[in-house]
Amino acid sequence: MSVTVFGKINIDTFLYVDRIHIGENHLCTKTFTDIGGKGANTAIALAKLNVPCQLVAMIGTDSVSQTVLKRLEKHGVGIDSIQSCEEQIGKTFIVVESNGRNTMFHILGANAHLTPDKIDWTFLERCKAVFVQMGIPSETAQEVIMMSKRNGKYVFVDPAGFSETIELQTLAYADTVAPNELELLRMTKETEIEKAVKKLLNVGVEEVVVKLGGKGATLYTEKMSYHVDAYDVEVVDTTGAGDAFNAAYILAKLKKMNVRDALKLAVAASALAVTKVGSSSASPTRDKLVEFLKSKGEESLAKAVLEGSL
Ligand code: RIB
Repeated sequence: MSVTVFGKINIDTFLYVDRIHIGENHLCTKTFTDIGGKGANTAIALAKLNVPCQLVAMIGTDSVSQTVLKRLEKHGVGIDSIQSCEEQIGKTFIVVESNGRNTMFHILGANAHLTPDKIDWTFLERCKAVFVQMGIPSETAQEVIMMSKRNGKYVFVDPAGFSETIELQTLAYADTVAPNELELLRMTKETEIEKAVKKLLNVGVEEVVVKLGGKGATLYTEKMSYHVDAYDVEVVDTTGAGDAFNAAYILAKLKKMNVRDALKLAVAASALAVTKVGSSSASPTRDKLVEFLKSKGEESLAKAVLEGSL
């Protein structure tokens, strides 16, 4: 197993509208239901890129939870470490405007029960890399990050859901932290990107990758920074784009690509994701990613994605 993913599983219900106006009635142009949650989305995105992975998460005991399990397994995600509890499965209601922007409403449900005592630490014997989403209970995220690093794993953290009560110091054990602009400023309590990044690097994070949506992404280490512009694509729905980004970046790291290629690959995966509706449905397969890279003249990067095994 190459990657162990710790994160949420949700049922996402999408409402597509022209514009959202608080306090008013809306006519939806369409609706959609998808498996969501950053844990499930990242695991499915990894599986679509042919990266062996297992998901550690919590679901309910209802029939919807069973259907989700079957769908994850069909995608090739390892489901043996997904546990169930007497709670409803996590749910997110997502309003997407015609410019692709989304507004979310969350019910944590079973996700809130992924406490440290539920973790089977033998995952550390089976993987090379660990993905952690901060939206799971913070004690769990903190312990997993620390133990994974101490056991020599590559640790990638998506800080979505980073609560104000968490010490930034928790991230000292992370190799890569990948926030969007808003998350970065909130978690560091800064108002400028450069200062916020410095704060994260100062606690010991190896590299900070800032997802900038339509402006691409910038990677920062102590020694350098590198920016990749976003591809010019038709934006339909931005939900799940960050998760497709995460998965492609982890694939690049497992393939020992340099940080520049890793960033290019991640930006390409998120470009494809925003052209599709839904969350886990939106991430690209390895073939689609390769095809896209070739169409953009990135032949050698496309070749590197196909080469070797994990
Ligand atoms: O990253 C997108 C995800 O965030 C959605 O699938 C939704 O469930 C929320 O957790």
